[in-house]
Amino acid sequence: MATTDVIIIGAGASGLVCAIEAGKRGRRVLVLDHQKHPGQKILMSGGGRCNFTNLCVEASNYISRNPHFCKSALSRFTQWDFIAKLDNHKIPFHERDHGQLFCDNSARDILEMLEAECRQAKVNFMFETQIKSVDRKNDQMFQVSTDKGEFTASSLVVATGGLSIPGVGATPLGYKIAESFNIKVWPPSPGLVPFTLQPQEKQRLAGLSGMSVDAVVSCGQTCFRENLLFTHRGLSGPVILQISVHWEPGQSLVVDLLPGVDLLSQLKQAQSERPRQQVKSMLTDLLPRRLVQAMVPAELAEAPLGSVSHTRFEQIAASLKQWEVKPGGTEGYRTAEVTKGGVDCDAISSKTMEATQKKGLYFIGEVLDVTGWLGGYNLQWAWSSGWVAGQYA
Ligand code: FDA
Repeated sequence: MATTDVIIIGAGASGLVCAIEAGKRGRRVLVLDHQKHPGQKILMSGGGRCNFTNLCVEASNYISRNPHFCKSALSRFTQWDFIAKLDNHKIPFHERDHGQLFCDNSARDILEMLEAECRQAKVNFMFETQIKSVDRKNDQMFQVSTDKGEFTASSLVVATGGLSIPGVGATPLGYKIAESFNIKVWPPSPGLVPFTLQPQEKQRLAGLSGMSVDAVVSCGQTCFRENLLFTHRGLSGPVILQISVHWEPGQSLVVDLLPGVDLLSQLKQAQSERPRQQVKSMLTDLLPRRLVQAMVPAELAEAPLGSVSHTRFEQIAASLKQWEVKPGGTEGYRTAEVTKGGVDCDAISSKTMEATQKKGLYFIGEVLDVTGWLGGYNLQWAWSSGWVAGQYA
């Protein structure tokens, strides 16, 4: 049985930052992971360039049953603190739309930076290690049994992430550990994920696969404006990934395919100016032809503008500006970037990330019920929560 000060389960984004910080305090840190290498999701992130943070990070960019929970960590280790790390390591990066920051070269730059800081902080790692059980030995120590032996420590940090992309090692271990210590877990579900369509809608839109248009998509009170991508299974693109975090099964979305365009007025104006023009020819000045074909019934699309009533114009405008679509579901954890739900933040101290009823037990990163928008927010949460836990574990 080996004893150390801190055991961290999970060598991902949050676990690595926590390990660095705890190691810098002189704590003996052991990181356990069942994968062969650390930071697999960091390497996948941002299409390989890692959208590592955002210039504007606020609590309102996160969804949680406890919307205030993330505030403290985000304000103590900010996007500027992470940017300073990159500057120290001379890692080049650039800004894209909406303040998103990406590496110029590769996500590997970030992972190598974190690995180098772990070495400096004398962090120990054990990879390809299967966790068999986690117990509280007495009031002081946690005991972790693995296929490579037993380890005890006074602090245990759970940094096992969410369930998305099982192929790179995602498991529900963190949720199970929480439940075994009587900590509530909100049901996990895929987030930042494409939608599938109901069979009829899927058939109607089959010809649009690959097409991308600017759109506003609303779900209840929440809406986003970005690109919408039609896929052979359903709907994707940034606007869909963003809204997916706010969507619950059974809910409908409302899609405006012509944001900022007063289509009804334009139809009426075209009718008075060009009554012989076909409806579809007027609409294809605004939208791709295939999209018009799929959304507007043929007999209406073929009609000359002069022969169409204003009531019918209202129907056309509604079908393009208030298209109500009820997703069949999501593409699931296979493609989801994050997991919604997770360990109940009410059971965790927002100042330390320690379980309020279980001294020495910490939860950080995506395993918690904190889900960021698309745009670098999830990694910033991993860095911030990992940093905070690293000050106390
Ligand atoms: P993370 O998933 O990073 O690490 C968890 C670790 O725990 C892993 O190393 C895993 O092997 C280990 N583990 C799990 N179960 C275990 C078990 N049973 N035993 C031992 N070890 C176990 N975010 C963002 O802000 N910008 C972006 O560009 C992207 N892009 C992106 C692309 C793709 C394809 C995905 C899937 C995700 C993103 N994300 C993202 C999300 C981001 O990657 C994610 O939120 C963070 O990596 C979460 O960090 P954690 O440390 O919580 O978990």
